[in-house]
Order: sequence, then C-alpha cells, then structure tokens
Amino acid sequence: MTTAAKPAQALKAISSKARELMEQLNADAAKLDIWVRTEMNAPAQRSWFTDTGGETGAGQLSSGRIAANQVKTLPAGWRWKDYRPFLDRISDIASRADVSPIEFADRQSILLVNRGLGGRLQVTSTMRCAISIYTPGDVAPAHIHSANASRTILSERGGYTNVEGERCEAVRGDLIITPNGTWHDHGNDSDTPVIWIDMLDWPLLEVLDCAWVDLDYKGAGADSSAKIQKTVHTDGYSARLYGHGGLKPTFVSHQRGWGHDPDAMIHYRGADVREALDGLRQEKGDPYEGIQMEFVNPVTGRPVGSTLKYAAQLLRAGEQTLPKRETCSTFMVVMDGQGYTDVGGRRFEWEPNDIVVMLNFLWRRHVNTGKNDAVLYTVSDASLMTNIGQYRAQGRQPGGNVVQIAR
Ligand SMILES: [Fe+2]
Repeated sequence: MTTAAKPAQALKAISSKARELMEQLNADAAKLDIWVRTEMNAPAQRSWFTDTGGETGAGQLSSGRIAANQVKTLPAGWRWKDYRPFLDRISDIASRADVSPIEFADRQSILLVNRGLGGRLQVTSTMRCAISIYTPGDVAPAHIHSANASRTILSERGGYTNVEGERCEAVRGDLIITPNGTWHDHGNDSDTPVIWIDMLDWPLLEVLDCAWVDLDYKGAGADSSAKIQKTVHTDGYSARLYGHGGLKPTFVSHQRGWGHDPDAMIHYRGADVREALDGLRQEKGDPYEGIQMEFVNPVTGRPVGSTLKYAAQLLRAGEQTLPKRETCSTFMVVMDGQGYTDVGGRRFEWEPNDIVVMLNFLWRRHVNTGKNDAVLYTVSDASLMTNIGQYRAQGRQPGGNVVQIAR
C-alpha cells in the first residue's frame, strides 16, 4: 500500500504545475523550432469555424508563442466614405507632381489589409484587393502574370483596360477579366480620374510559390518595345461575340492568352448585368441570395475562373436573406442600395461602393433596408474550393433548422 501511494502523490504534484512546466517546455523547444501543444498554444490547432468555435463561431486566437504568427481571416468591412479620401489625396498628389506616383509606385492604389492576416497584403487567405485611381494620362504598362485578376469599375466612366488586344472602355458596374496568361494594360485617356477595384488570387499563388509577373512586352512588332498593346478588337468585342445568351460564335478561337481554359468573355458590361437582374426581379429568387446571377465563361458555362467565382445579386426593398454559410471566402462590393450584412455576429452597414468580407463557414445574411433595389457584386474562392472537392454550403431556415444547400 505504501509503495503504491507514492507514485500517485508524485503524479498529483506534477499535475498542479503541469501548465507552468508545459509552457516552460515550449519556450525551450522554440530554440529548436519545435512547437509544443500547451494550454496557451492549443487554440491555434482547433477548428476555426465551427459552431463551438467561440461565441460567434469565429474561433479563438491563440495567446501563446504561435499567436504572433497565427493568421486567420476575420470578417471585415470598409466604407466608401473612409477609403475614398485616400484615393482623392493620391489623385491630388499625382495631378500636381512632376513625377506621378504611378511612375515610382507601379500603381496608384490602396490595398485592403485584413487584420487577421498579420499585415499581409491580402483581404482573404486567397484574394488580394487593390482599389486603384488612374488620373488623366496615366498608363499602367502591358504585363502578364500567373495571377487571375479582374477589375470592377466604380467610377461612372473613364479609363480602359486592354486585354490581349481587346479594348475595354470602363463604365460603372463593368467587370473586366484578365485570366492568367493574358497580356493586359490599363490607362485613363479621359479628362477625369477613374476608380476601380482590382481583385486577384495573388495570395493563393504566393502560397504555392507560383506568383510571377513579366513586364517585358515586346509589342506588336518583334523589334519594338511598347508600353501598351495595340487595339486589335474594338470596345464591345466580348459583347458582340458572346453577349447574346445561348449563342456561341463558331468562327473564332475562344482561347485568350495561353492559360488553361481561360474565360473567353473578357468584358461583362454593368448595364447588361443590371438589365438581366431587373428583368428577373419578379421571380421568387433564392432565399439565401435573392435574385443572383453568376458570371460564367460563355463557352463552357463554368465559373469565370478556376479559382475565383463572380456573381451579382439583386435584393428587393426590404428583402432579408436567410442565414447561409459556405466553405469559401467572399468579397462583396455594393453597387447600389442601402442595407447591412451580418457576418459571424458582426454587422456591417452598407451603401454604394462599401465593401464587406465574408468568411469560410461563418453564418451571414443580407438585409436591404432601403426603399429601392440593392445590387451586390461578389467574388469568392468558391471555384477553387469546388475544384479541390471542398465546397459545401448550408442554410438556416426560419425555425433554425440547418439544411444542406451544396455538398
Ligand atoms: Fe495585372
């Protein structure tokens, strides 16, 4: 009896100091780049987005040694009234400078930084968002890169993007796609500044060690070096080829650049998007998304990109969507209307040009509080998640019942 009691007492004594000893062990292990699962560190390894992952289902950051390096995308929002002044100030500097910022900073833009991602230049784990302003005369030289990118035009008009020779005149609500492996250049030859949102899957490609850019555009002639591409196809080429639903031209190659199955339609016009949404506003729509339409490659019917998926949705006055969560992160910009979006227990009020970031498997819902229709544009990494077999979506019905929408 005496000999059996001693080990039990010794074990109890260690247990009372176990927390302290484990943290000390972790500190020693750090010198050898080894991480010990301790009480403080443990949350870093727990599932982030689960119903039990914290009060809002938004997980819990570690307080231990790993905390400084822990990256978890957080719900976030940016208001037009807050970010617009920075663009105006850039424009003001550019208009009075002997050397414009675009000359020494490559672009005149602001980048949205998600606080959960440790200061990295990314708005979600896979997406980068830059908001650019091009003052009259600005040119972003022709370049090509591995990242898939797009421009969503916020200004009423002005500015252009040339993608593989197709001139795209920028108008508010337009979506201009630059699939990976396409040469593109931008500029503004109008007399007023133009603002647009650039979305890229750059962070994803950085993680994959596959982010690269080539600036060495040779121009139309083999011996010339040009900053901008020649216009081979005039503005509206995409719409002329593919802008009639259900009809596909048979006399052109649908290949743009050299990427794999690139989106054949480069320029989606905002006016066409709005007309399509308005034409369907009498329909019942989706309880979780309202009247939603996806931007698709007209040749394949699949999403515009193999990583990024784009959509536009209309919410009628007073419309409230039911809570939904998806295994993707979604960036949203408001094109019209007023309302709010709840994401993981946080509320983001919005009006035109405001931005909200919704996250992987956090419950979210939209409410149009205005007297008119609201129009929201989204870009998400749902394509990527689908392609790697990870896309799921759930909805919560009025009684609280959770249903599978997609699996
Ligand atoms: Fe680019």
